[in-house]
Amino acid sequence: MENQSTTFDFTRRTELTELMDAPCSRDVLRACLQDIARTNRLTFAYRPLIGWLSRLTADLPPLAAPLRILDIGCGYGDGLRRVERWARRRRIPVELVGLDLNPDATALAEEATAASSRIQWVTANVLSYTPPQAPHLIISSLFTHHLNEEQIVQFLRWMEDHARLGWFINDLSRAPIPYHFFRAFARVARLHHFVRNDGPVSIARSFIAGEWRTMCGAAELDMESIEIRPFKPARLCVSRRKP
Ligand SMILES: C[S@@+](CC[C@H](N)C(=O)[O-])C[C@H]1O[C@@H](n2cnc3c(N)ncnc32)[C@H](O)[C@@H]1O
Repeated sequence: MENQSTTFDFTRRTELTELMDAPCSRDVLRACLQDIARTNRLTFAYRPLIGWLSRLTADLPPLAAPLRILDIGCGYGDGLRRVERWARRRRIPVELVGLDLNPDATALAEEATAASSRIQWVTANVLSYTPPQAPHLIISSLFTHHLNEEQIVQFLRWMEDHARLGWFINDLSRAPIPYHFFRAFARVARLHHFVRNDGPVSIARSFIAGEWRTMCGAAELDMESIEIRPFKPARLCVSRRKP
């Protein structure tokens, strides 16, 4: 298959596709998701969310029930396992649910999770999903760039309607330097060929702050309470804490 990541052309966003979004065997998906998890660790990708959770929970009055956190597009589940360790260390009672469209992803997330974990894994399309119990927080990482702009507006509205306390999007920041850096890094680190293709494509499919503001506006969100914040390397996070 032709490598789509040789050029950096923002205008072709919708034409760029990720290999991991096409059907593949569970073994191939496992190898791909394991390399995304490795890249997440090497690039400190959990930090923005853990910082946000720490600040938010420090300000909260004691909750009557465990803090329910729903992770959308959970993939291999490494992000949610990181949240579980954070909560355990801080003795914060949590109920964690990871949701993914791909049944192989949720099966692999479960396979990679210790039997002692209480995380639940759900297979569903978020755009037609109603949580049985409203989560306090809805989070996602490397998920929104898989959607088109109209679906992102729908997703923003969906989070706003379902999250009781707030939501946090952790995605990539579209910029040439990370795009070229990641292509070189993926080759040197001998990442799975899906990740070598999909990493740069993901950066090219991601958004800049002004585009996030436009999409939040289209979702009729209160812009005063939206935070759009870059994190090194190459992340742009969008979040809202409800008053
Ligand atoms: C790049 S992976 C992100 C995995 C993980 N969150 C991380 O940060 O490494 C994106 C995931 O989003 C899932 N996904 C794409 N569209 C979805 C949808 N409409 N509903 C739920 N999950 C979706 C894909 O199946 C894939 O596992």
